[in-house]
Amino acid sequence: MRVLVTGGAGFIGSTYVRELLDGRYPGSDGARVTVLDKLTYAGSLANLPVRHPRLDFVEGDVCDPRLVTDLLPGHDAVVHFAAESHVDRSLANGAPFAVTNVVGTQTLLDACRRTKVERFVLVSTDEVYGSIPRGSWTEESPLLPNSPYSASKAAGDLFARAYWRAHDVAVSITRCCNNYGPYQFVEKVIPLFITTLIDGGDVPLYGDGHHVREWLHVSDHCRAVHAVLTGGRAGEVYNIGGGTELSNLELTGYLLELCGAGWDRVRRVPDRDAHDERYSLDSTKLREELGVTPQVGFERGLAAAVEWYGGNRWWWEKDKVAAAPPVLTEPLRARDVHR
Ligand code: NAD
Ligand code: DAU
Repeated sequence: MRVLVTGGAGFIGSTYVRELLDGRYPGSDGARVTVLDKLTYAGSLANLPVRHPRLDFVEGDVCDPRLVTDLLPGHDAVVHFAAESHVDRSLANGAPFAVTNVVGTQTLLDACRRTKVERFVLVSTDEVYGSIPRGSWTEESPLLPNSPYSASKAAGDLFARAYWRAHDVAVSITRCCNNYGPYQFVEKVIPLFITTLIDGGDVPLYGDGHHVREWLHVSDHCRAVHAVLTGGRAGEVYNIGGGTELSNLELTGYLLELCGAGWDRVRRVPDRDAHDERYSLDSTKLREELGVTPQVGFERGLAAAVEWYGGNRWWWEKDKVAAAPPVLTEPLRARDVHR
């Protein structure tokens, strides 16, 4: 099997590539991988075993039709992770999100159609559904994105469906909840909080901290993506959840404890615009059709992540300035903390 992995130098894509080359997924022994990655601020060759004999790395843009059309022949499948991925950046400037996440996805789908690649997995996100006050989204729930990031992912998601309907490209779409684990860029809340606490700083909690996210270890996400690639049905969407639902206050409590810090190290900062209140996925389809459930317990996985950032300062230190948190405002008051 030869797989083209876009965005394979980023957080989730590189985890998938490392685990695929390690033969960690059923039937993946001897798999060959080509990574196509633009190496934006979020991508790094330090995330990949670049000298691995079954890995080829191509620096390039998924929006480049000639490059992707030339690259695809000889590959059995595409797993498309490449994206602009940070909500806050999309609120500051949506343009790169429209380009990479929409035009890039369409470019890749079109190249797959032309070169007749047999299989395509689009790694989408639960954020395309918007925000849900109670209950959980199934794959039939409407797409109601609230940020330029999630709107661009939803558009890419719909292009994928259209290329399956109109051109028979064998696309499956995955929509996963929030990931955590090693190699996550320091702008995202978990690595931002861990590295800030390690450095003795105060962490910025948006708004009242009651927003809820569903957390899944990155290895569980990647295993599910591979199961969809090898056993999922074309034209179908698979939610990848089954993670741990926590408010940001609860998550902060875990991180403070693991880092040996107190609530005096938390600062309230102005809320994110259009901040989604709660995400929650129903993953029955993934479990019943493909037998996939999470393997990494949240507390164990989070403790391992804290340990990894503690032991790999070389990896994140240089990115800390670029991902500097917003200006800190008022300290968290005791009555804001409902744990
Ligand atoms: P990331 O930002 O860490 O990595 C993105 C990678 O894509 C980087 O290596 C970057 O260089 C590359 N890239 C960006 N633009 C490109 C372009 N035009 N051409 C080629 N490469 C380009 O992102 P991540 O957190 O690893 O997310 C990977 C995918 O998973 C994204 O599609 C994201 O929407 C989706 N997703 C992420 C999460 C999460 O919690 N992080 C959850 C669900 C879905
Ligand atoms: O749900 C899947 C999505 O999860 C992915 O599609 C995105 O690519 C990924 O970035 C992530 O989006 P979020 O916006 O949920 O992740 P982020 O880490 O930016 O924020 C998580 C929560 O923490 C959110 O409620 C905002 C809050 N937060 C975030 C930052 C960066 C803070 O309170 N303070 C912060 O400094």
